[in-house]
Amino acid sequence: MGDWEKLQSECLSCRKCALAETRTNVVFGSGNRCSPVLFIGEAPGATEDATGLPFTGRAGRLLDSMLASVGMDRTQVYIANTIKCRPPKNRDPFPEEQTACLPWLEAQIGLINPKMIVCLGRISAMRFIKPDFRITQEHGQWFERDGKKLMAIYHPAALLRDPAKRGDTFEDLRKIEIEVERLREESRK
Ligand code: URA
Repeated sequence: MGDWEKLQSECLSCRKCALAETRTNVVFGSGNRCSPVLFIGEAPGATEDATGLPFTGRAGRLLDSMLASVGMDRTQVYIANTIKCRPPKNRDPFPEEQTACLPWLEAQIGLINPKMIVCLGRISAMRFIKPDFRITQEHGQWFERDGKKLMAIYHPAALLRDPAKRGDTFEDLRKIEIEVERLREESRK
């Protein structure tokens, strides 16, 4: 069994926290496992819990058009969440649930070894960029850690609630597009 298959099959039977009692599916993550770009959302919602795939509800459709606006699609990036099981009624995940879940995503990051991580929303940015991340002030800024570039953009669900934020997000996505192109050029050299 390959590393990915082993990781995925162990993760799909995870019972490390109480969310295992209420979930329908573990939402492991999906997309291109060799992508230089990893998008990390927050937590699966009802649609994701039902399908087992990240971002398959309304926010997911918006994420698809955000990717398309900069010439990308799900086959070119990898998409995962900070937590793999849906918290009941979409409540915020408890810290102990996040801590129990994190090693799965860290293992995925180790296998993908992305050059760029895009955090979708504040919760993901607080986990992967810095604990006091301020999304309104710091979205669209590049950070660097372990040789990886990190940026947070507004979560698609926030853009559904407040379409006025879409202009800023388009500019942030443009910066991501430019950096992806730069990485492509670099890998051709
Ligand atoms: N919101 C998220 O953060 N992740 C999903 O997979 C769906 C909605």
